[in-house]
Amino acid sequence: MSDEAVYPVTDHFRNKALIDKETYESMYQRSIQDPESFWAEQAKRLDWMKPFSRVKDVSFASNDVHIRWFEDGTLNAAANCIDRHLEERSGQPAIIWEPDEESEDNRVITYAELHEEVSRLANGLKSLGVKKGDIVTLYMPMVPEAAYAMLACARIGAIHSVVFGGFSPEALAGRIDDGGSKVVITADEARRGGKRVPLKANVDEAVSLCKESSVDNVVVLKATGGNVDFNGNRDIWYRDLVGKQSDQCEPEEMGAEDTLFVLYTSGSTGKPKGVVHTTGGYLLHTSITHEYVFDYRPGEVYWCSADVGWITGHSYVVYGPLANGGTTMMFEGVPTYPDVGRLGRIIDKYKIATFYTAPTAIRSLMAEGDAPVANADLSSLKLLGTVGEPINPEAWRWFHQKFGKGQCPIVDTWWQTETGGILISPLPGAIDLKPGSATKPFFGVQPALMDPEGNEMEGATSGGLVLKDSWPGQMRTILGNHQRFVETYFSTYEGCYFTGDGAKRDEDGYYWITGRVDDVLNVSGHRMGTAEVESALVSHDAVAEAAVVGCPHEIKGQGIYVYVTLTHGQSPSDELAKELKQHVRKEIGPIATPDVIQWADGLPKTRSGKIMRRILRKIAADEFDSLGDTSTLADPNVVDDLIEGHRVAA
Ligand code: WTA
Repeated sequence: MSDEAVYPVTDHFRNKALIDKETYESMYQRSIQDPESFWAEQAKRLDWMKPFSRVKDVSFASNDVHIRWFEDGTLNAAANCIDRHLEERSGQPAIIWEPDEESEDNRVITYAELHEEVSRLANGLKSLGVKKGDIVTLYMPMVPEAAYAMLACARIGAIHSVVFGGFSPEALAGRIDDGGSKVVITADEARRGGKRVPLKANVDEAVSLCKESSVDNVVVLKATGGNVDFNGNRDIWYRDLVGKQSDQCEPEEMGAEDTLFVLYTSGSTGKPKGVVHTTGGYLLHTSITHEYVFDYRPGEVYWCSADVGWITGHSYVVYGPLANGGTTMMFEGVPTYPDVGRLGRIIDKYKIATFYTAPTAIRSLMAEGDAPVANADLSSLKLLGTVGEPINPEAWRWFHQKFGKGQCPIVDTWWQTETGGILISPLPGAIDLKPGSATKPFFGVQPALMDPEGNEMEGATSGGLVLKDSWPGQMRTILGNHQRFVETYFSTYEGCYFTGDGAKRDEDGYYWITGRVDDVLNVSGHRMGTAEVESALVSHDAVAEAAVVGCPHEIKGQGIYVYVTLTHGQSPSDELAKELKQHVRKEIGPIATPDVIQWADGLPKTRSGKIMRRILRKIAADEFDSLGDTSTLADPNVVDDLIEGHRVAA
């Protein structure tokens, strides 16, 4: 991955950027040496109802992990994203929406309209009995109403839990149950690339699967007009709910540490966990990073192509840009529909200044040569960004050349659902770029690299990536399970937050994220726990045992490679492979569909019965020469069988 080419700060950004080299250095130093005064100063970018007196109260010690920022201050996130901009920007577009079908009308929602829509829905939710602290589940297409719903919850102090529309009814049910939601907001159908996803039917099924929760109301947006079953006692059309409401709704006064939202993410073990983000610190962090990393100026049209079902959609489609009074693009479709020129046409149509996307999207376009940009002007672009997985230098250069015409810097932003916002990234006016490197830490962020014994290493080296101190956007806990929070993030390296990623640091102090060092996969930028996929597989009658590992995949970054041992009497067939893939889709969702299924009579286990995944990973990656020590296996012969099986499967 190492690549020595350096792309210096461009003239455009050297002269005009919000943060230049000297400013970055001095602000970074101050943010580390005196975080309290640094963040007290930065927090002025938000409108507080009651000012805070204490900035930071944090302990990473494993016997007492707590993270609190601005604790006695109060504010409302929706008021910060909407109301405070009304005086200056009521007529400015807050959200621009581009539909899946190019021939359909787009929508432009001004700040005044956003205020009205959010207030009506907020009142509508109140009329259903939703109160401060209740969790509302959102299972929505990429339409403006998804953002309205998030902000309406924030306005009345309810906690939103957005579930990506690609998750199955089973996965949705687990999340509704975990949060105890009484209200679900959804749509008849979602559309992506001309295909339809039956959201409402999925919700119906999920609600019937719920064990803990009893859902009282399902609010249904008519998005496509597709047919849905309607349960008159429970279901209510979105427009009927908001139509009769007042367009005024006083924002609830929230404590900075009151929960803003829960978002589920995968870890290396167990079920997905509900990551808890709170109000003040999260909003400050998304707002400041959005402004400085993207060098954002109001008036510009900014486009982050993530779905609101993921953290990137939360932080950089909705909260960050709106907190800054920006104009944020929402695109319902996919980069390759109706053809690979779609992104270029959108950029030209709206004069997009900043385009922030995922390496997997770039790689899928790169495979098409010049076609994605052949008829595009793209001269409105000033900055490009990537997120979600390491970007290979080849894809970086293609993006830089074809979309950026060699003129636009690329900010390769490293962060996680847990971090709330960007932590390691170039600032375009301050940091020279190296393709494939997320470069330097943002203000207040103290990365370190650890050796296996838990010692911090200095200088150019590589190791486990940790963060030594808190930043305002950090997750606060796992919903309902603080102990799991402590064990997952604070027990590997005492006194540090462990990211689960490995990284390299070069002589210039640049960070290069090498990927997960735990059993988490990153498939097209989507996080997935190997344990989740395994438990979906073994819930099928034909499967006795399953082991899941990542394998290199040209477009997706990582593919899902599955080793399956069948139950007695079952025999391998293409039919069964298809059925197992279908089964995983049903249990988790299409994003978890296995790429390769290899039948295995036995798995490599130690004498104590532990599966040696290292060996399975190597075999899946064709790296038979570097299997390492296999002498501790209970049955070393199984390795040869697996290599043979791999040649057949792959
Ligand atoms: C990976 C997405 C390399 C990383 C915001 C992390 C990256 C996981 C980058 C979090 C990047 C994210 N370079 N790797 N720029 N950005 N990752 O929670 O492994 O969906 O731990 O958050 O994605 O994924 P998540």
